[in-house]
Amino acid sequence: MAILWLLLIYISPALSDNSYEAFLNCLSHYSPNSNVSEILYSQCSVNYTNVLNSTIQNLRYKSQNTTKPILILTPTNQEQIQASVSCCKNHGLSIRVRSGGHDYEGLSYRSVNYSQFVMLDLTNLRSIHINSHHATAWVQSGATIGKLYYKISTKNSTLAFPAGTYSTVCAGGQFSGGGIGTLTRKYGLSADNILDAKIIDSNGMVLDRAAMGEDLFWAIRGGGGGSFGIVLSWKLRLVQVPEIVSTFFINRTLDQGAIGLIYKWQYVAFEMEPDMFLEADIVPNINGTEPGAVFNSLYLGRCTDMLTYLQVHFPELGVGTSDCREMSWIQSAVYFAGFGDADPKILLDRGLQPKIYNKGTSDYVIDPIPFAAWEGIFDWFRSNISGSIYMISHGGVMGEIPESYIPYPHRGRVLYNVQYLALWNRASDTEAHLGWIRGLRSSMTYLVSTNPRRAYVNFRDLDLGSNDVGRNTSYENARVWGEKYFKDNFKRLALSKVRLILRIFSGTSKAYLHLSLNGKITKTL
Ligand SMILES: Cc1cc2nc3c(=O)[nH]c(=O)nc-3n(C[C@H](O)[C@H](O)[C@H](O)COP(=O)(O)OP(=O)(O)OC[C@H]3O[C@@H](n4cnc5c(N)ncnc54)[C@H](O)[C@@H]3O)c2cc1C
Ligand SMILES: *[C@@H]1O[C@H](CO)[C@@H](O)[C@H](O)[C@H]1NC(C)=O
Ligand SMILES: *[C@@H]1O[C@H](CO)[C@@H](O)[C@H](O)[C@H]1NC(C)=O
Ligand SMILES: *[C@@H]1O[C@H](CO)[C@@H](O)[C@H](O)[C@H]1NC(C)=O
Ligand SMILES: *[C@@H]1O[C@H](CO)[C@@H](O)[C@H](O)[C@H]1NC(C)=O
Ligand SMILES: *[C@@H]1O[C@H](CO)[C@@H](O)[C@H](O)[C@H]1NC(C)=O
Ligand SMILES: *[C@@H]1O[C@H](CO)[C@@H](O)[C@H](O)[C@H]1NC(C)=O
Ligand SMILES: *[C@@H]1O[C@H](CO)[C@@H](O)[C@H](O)[C@H]1NC(C)=O
Ligand SMILES: *[C@@H]1O[C@H](CO)[C@@H](O)[C@H](O)[C@H]1NC(C)=O
Ligand SMILES: *[C@@H]1O[C@H](CO)[C@@H](O)[C@H](O)[C@H]1NC(C)=O
Ligand SMILES: *[C@@H]1O[C@H](CO)[C@@H](O)[C@H](O)[C@H]1NC(C)=O
Repeated sequence: MAILWLLLIYISPALSDNSYEAFLNCLSHYSPNSNVSEILYSQCSVNYTNVLNSTIQNLRYKSQNTTKPILILTPTNQEQIQASVSCCKNHGLSIRVRSGGHDYEGLSYRSVNYSQFVMLDLTNLRSIHINSHHATAWVQSGATIGKLYYKISTKNSTLAFPAGTYSTVCAGGQFSGGGIGTLTRKYGLSADNILDAKIIDSNGMVLDRAAMGEDLFWAIRGGGGGSFGIVLSWKLRLVQVPEIVSTFFINRTLDQGAIGLIYKWQYVAFEMEPDMFLEADIVPNINGTEPGAVFNSLYLGRCTDMLTYLQVHFPELGVGTSDCREMSWIQSAVYFAGFGDADPKILLDRGLQPKIYNKGTSDYVIDPIPFAAWEGIFDWFRSNISGSIYMISHGGVMGEIPESYIPYPHRGRVLYNVQYLALWNRASDTEAHLGWIRGLRSSMTYLVSTNPRRAYVNFRDLDLGSNDVGRNTSYENARVWGEKYFKDNFKRLALSKVRLILRIFSGTSKAYLHLSLNGKITKTL
């Protein structure tokens, strides 16, 4: 996908060995204070593959036929990013930006239709500065969510930030697309809690909120990574959590009424008080043969209160005293990241989570899915395919924030987000798993949101549509995928992009921009 019109405007022939030297010279010119040969890798460099592989999280895009960057840059400071952007521009090269490399379609480090590009890997830009007095933090894009959680907790155990559960995902990609997790019902998305940001535009200029203006600042908070410039760092509003929170992780087999519980969950999870987060998953082989349901919960309070609450609102779930565990918020983050009772320091590890073949995609549900339909959905999990459904309820503050507050539009009556995920270990199993997940999503068509059928941009899925990269893209064509991710906000995003391009290229004759809104060409530079 990617609204990558901006950086893909230049097209140039392959870079020869000579121009590697020329690129290096350009870099030293713009970044005279560093030894730039330490941050530039060509495909001939000894460590090129090492660096490229380092955060390819989806093994599908590690294969021979994946289009690789002709150059990789691993800047360690702002000046080097500015230099990289200026030199890419001078050399007519487009740019991909990678922070954590978790993009489901690998778009931070590969190109789909366009062969020539340079990858900027921001993994070295990962500092975090916390001001616990003001409950704010500046976090660089290459910092992981796990490190952010850990650093906050060492400053003040009753401060936290609403972001995702997976600890090696980075701020750069996640906050650009939203950021959903255990605190979402209480405090909203990561992107709802961003106070300021520093971005580098395609002229290599560093812009903060005041300099970029409210239009662009709106767009970068959820409009999707890789579309509006390079985000260097984000200023976050930290949120309050109690000293002790409560969690439970339970599963239920079909015999234990898994289907009925999922059915009922749809009604209760949305209505629950914002302190209560209750995720529902469908997984295969819960008892070795049959699929079942898993319920993961975080409550911002004590076990006694949580159990009393559930006794009233969801007694069928049968959560008992022995299921509930009290802990610090940071320990709950360790738990949700899949590390059990490990020391929270584990959240600093950038390489722990396994790299695997995968495909993810998403839906949103507005009207509860009928019981009979759930029986059919569970049948998809009787095969030998390793796939799951993860459902995260909205409601709470998510139901109150206006749809146009930031680009993420899935608010109001949206009950929950559905994530479909297939994981496999061998290239030879790829077709079977892609077929399974596409079939499953297709079978859900009449059960989920329609007109448009909504999706979450952080669970990017090129099956939903994309610009025909390298060719002209009309607004009418882009709407096909754009409104799924952004609904009515897509129009504003497209206009923000036009204004950004006009601002950046004003006074130059280098760029050709043919952007058609409702079929009409608005501006040709
Ligand atoms: C295992 C797994 C678990 C996940 N769990 C959650 C979850 O709990 N909640 C949730 O909301 N999402 C979750 N996600 C989705 C995740 O938030 C997105 O995939 C996110 O975009 C990844 O960010 P990244 O920096 O790690 O990835 P990258 O691949 O580096 O980047 C993703 C996209 O953002 C762009 N980008 C990266 N850095 C920058 C930057 N500095 N400036 C501008 N653009 C940039 C890239 O070009 C690319 O288009 C999960 C994904 C995976 C694979
Ligand atoms: C710059 O780094 C390269 C690669 O590490 C090294 O070979 C070279 O000696 C360094 N140059 C200077 C001036 O330090
Ligand atoms: C390559 O990486 C290894 C470790 O990953 C490092 O020791 C070595 O110095 C690197 N070599 C170059 C030429 O950068
Ligand atoms: C990078 O990944 C490819 C594909 O899995 C593999 O063949 C290669 O050995 C890896 N290289 C390094 C240096 O890790
Ligand atoms: C490229 O490799 C992927 C993963 O192995 C495979 O799914 C895809 O079909 C391949 N594409 C081509 C054109 O060979
Ligand atoms: C920690 O943060 C809370 C807000 O959650 C604040 O009330 C408290 O004063 C802070 N404590 C310290 C030691 O900074
Ligand atoms: C798994 O659960 C199913 C249905 O709940 C039951 O029929 C089956 O016997 C169980 N299998 C095992 C191995 O417990
Ligand atoms: C289900 O719960 C039981 C009891 O807590 C646990 O032993 C088992 O590992 C869980 N299974 C899955 C698939 O989560
Ligand atoms: C799943 O089962 C099918 C048919 O029995 C078989 O062809 C396939 O290899 C199996 N796949 C896996 C991942 O085990
Ligand atoms: C790539 O190009 C082909 C042929 O033009 C097109 O059919 C396809 O949709 C394009 N895919 C993307 C992701 O742009
Ligand atoms: C893009 O549109 C312009 C103006 O309509 C046209 O001149 C140009 O040929 C088109 N380019 C492609 C690749 O279709």
